[in-house]
Amino acid sequence: MSEVVVRKDPEAVARQAATWIVRWARAAVAERGQFRIALAGGGTPARLYELLAREPYRSILPVAQTEVFWGDERFLPHGNAGRNDTHVLPLLSEAGIPGQNINPVPYVAETSDKSCADSRLARSAHLYEKQLQTRLEPGHPLMDVILLGLGTDGHTASLFPDTAALSVTDHLVAPNRSAYEDRHPERITLTFPAINASRIILFMVTGRGKRDILRRVLDTPESPVLPAQLVAPTSGNLLWLADEAATSSVL
Ligand code: 6PG
Repeated sequence: MSEVVVRKDPEAVARQAATWIVRWARAAVAERGQFRIALAGGGTPARLYELLAREPYRSILPVAQTEVFWGDERFLPHGNAGRNDTHVLPLLSEAGIPGQNINPVPYVAETSDKSCADSRLARSAHLYEKQLQTRLEPGHPLMDVILLGLGTDGHTASLFPDTAALSVTDHLVAPNRSAYEDRHPERITLTFPAINASRIILFMVTGRGKRDILRRVLDTPESPVLPAQLVAPTSGNLLWLADEAATSSVL
């Protein structure tokens, strides 16, 4: 099931997402005692992460049972401003999520043996996949919720057009590489099998600059297909949450 929900502006989108996430978290914890969410990178969800760390959301989010992952990461040392988690980690701590519940994507640093960057990138992806595999439970999705953004080229997570990771079907995580704006090109990303196994997939898309790509993704079968068009939950729900600026000519 796929649904598009429109809210007035980025603030309203963030508040709607925060309300849904807390509701989904409480339901998951009531059902099986834990809630797993994979966060999106980029700028769109920044306000959402601030909201979840503050009242009224903070005190109703079941933080002790909430586990946090990332849908993708830039291959940079921990603490680097170019990583997706760097600006979010303090907010997760402020929200009261226990440190052992927070799973940054590993970064395999350069060592004296000067292992090449490719192998360090691949090893980081492998380590992240091993982390995720410890959470796999028969009959349960890997993630209760995965948040995704949409790039103006139709990418999502770090699944970029014409890149190798698009066709990975036998792994949960893959290394990838692609230039996009001024962002670090070496990436680690959940693959489509991992994304599509989520119980709920929530895209957040805001701003006039995303209007054209959102219309193409939602309305126009393309060849080659845009990466975001390959997001199709195997048994869960797909939600598009966008503001009016990103949708005014789409709907
Ligand atoms: C990343 C993200 C990426 C992002 C889109 C949209 O690592 O950059 O995971 O997939 O969600 O590029 O980014 P904005 O929200 O900044 O437009």
